[in-house]
Amino acid sequence: RQLVAVIPAAGIGKRVGATIPKQYLSILNKTIIEHSLAPFLDLPEIKRVIVSLAENDQWFASLPVAKHPKIETVVGGAERVDSVLAALNKIDSDDYVLVHDAARPCITSGDINKLIHNVKAHQQGAILASKVRDTMKRSDASNSILNTVERDNLWHALTPQMFINQSLMNAIKENKQPEKVTDEASALEMSGLPVNIVEGRSDNLKVTREEDLKLAAFYLSQGEIR
Ligand code: CTP
Ligand code: MG
Repeated sequence: RQLVAVIPAAGIGKRVGATIPKQYLSILNKTIIEHSLAPFLDLPEIKRVIVSLAENDQWFASLPVAKHPKIETVVGGAERVDSVLAALNKIDSDDYVLVHDAARPCITSGDINKLIHNVKAHQQGAILASKVRDTMKRSDASNSILNTVERDNLWHALTPQMFINQSLMNAIKENKQPEKVTDEASALEMSGLPVNIVEGRSDNLKVTREEDLKLAAFYLSQGEIR
């Protein structure tokens, strides 16, 4: 089995609200997507890196990384899951896929290796996740608290998420509620398939709002040991 990375990068970054998609904003002299790609391009075990781009993407081709021999691009779709599927269709069904958001620039090769080892050891798909720290509340629609959600065994789902391509593609294609498939694991869960959690670094944030840019810049400035 080959290891192939899939990087969905076809979003517009509406919540960050910049004039260009957030993955093309620069942090420490490199675009966010270049930070997100770097450890996948560096790991010798990963043979191909497939980036899903918006049909009208005007930025990726001009980045130096676009010429890297491991890099391929595909045209993504309307939802994240469509962008992921477009890339999965280019990959052998027996291969391992590692799906990682273009908007998570602080991923470390240490965490990627930890995930790969877990999947190989248990022969089961797995995701990086970090433990929830705060007390969690559920409210009604008018923000009045209904209850406290038990925090034990509650996790933030991160990426990368790693599966055998065939099982991920089947889970996505068989799914009847695509609006609920917000990450790869959810497609497998909804098919009743087991997925492991591998505890990852909590600084592997997804740049979602403008204020996340400062935090990502700080983490990246600290290097891998941070
Ligand atoms: N993504 C994608 N195709 C889509 C939507 C999202 O490839 N149709 C990618 C984004 O580029 C991002 C990742 O999925 O790397 C996670 O999505 P999110 O953080 O929601 O990014 P955006 O959809 O771009 O942001 P927003 O929801 O604020 O518009
Ligand atoms: Mg989105």
